[in-house]
Amino acid sequence: MTRKNLIAGNWKMNNTIPEAVVLAQEISNGIYPDILDEVDVAVCPPFVDLKPVKSVFEFDRVNIALGAQNVYWEPKGAFTGEISIPMIKEIGCTYCIVGHSERRHLFDETNEDVNLKVRALIEAGIAPIICVGESLSVRDEGVYLDFVTAQVRAAYAGVEAADAVNTVVAYEPVWAIGTGRTATPEQAEEVCAAIRATLADLFGVDVAEQVRVLYGGSMNEGNAELLLAEPDIDGGLIGGAALKASSFLEIVKAAK
Ligand code: 13P
Repeated sequence: MTRKNLIAGNWKMNNTIPEAVVLAQEISNGIYPDILDEVDVAVCPPFVDLKPVKSVFEFDRVNIALGAQNVYWEPKGAFTGEISIPMIKEIGCTYCIVGHSERRHLFDETNEDVNLKVRALIEAGIAPIICVGESLSVRDEGVYLDFVTAQVRAAYAGVEAADAVNTVVAYEPVWAIGTGRTATPEQAEEVCAAIRATLADLFGVDVAEQVRVLYGGSMNEGNAELLLAEPDIDGGLIGGAALKASSFLEIVKAAK
């Protein structure tokens, strides 16, 4: 089964609207439209940048998808400071990152929160990019496969096999995020293969073979090709290197 690679840029809390428009325009200008037949590309800017970034891509008629970095599961109401799924859908998001380690660690997001978000996004037809990954201490204890696969099981609780097909998992070892210390292709493949085996256990091999499993954590133009050559790595969730158009575009090329 050949899965189309997905390269998604997670801009995190970077770029004011003018800065976001410049970066989106640079990405749009630099992308060869034909490459989008071979690689899916998405950017996930901060909420306030979504509309301006969408406008750039629409004006240029470039098929780069839009994702949010987080969302709340209730459709509306008295939830000061939160953003709903109908809101991000209306703006044109087709992806939404869920359970990023920064949200889990800095904002106490739990596996239960992640599951509620995943189910609500699926219901709305937006593909969740479900982030999982172990800290350095969990890796050093040697229990990282159990830890990560438990996160996967928790995220998908109550999800039907037919709905799991359009979800995405991103393996992001916490010790590799923003540290410049990338997992080796072998380390990343070991966990991504275990994630796929867990999906097969939950939903059957057919579905597991269709779900894209991304790697994230200091992926850049220098290491992307080797990581993406691994059989169970179907793309990347890119942080720092997604903030520079030339680096991001090199990673997209490496995903062909
Ligand atoms: P870096 O690429 O900056 O390590 O960030 C990875 C990440 O957290 C993407 O979601």
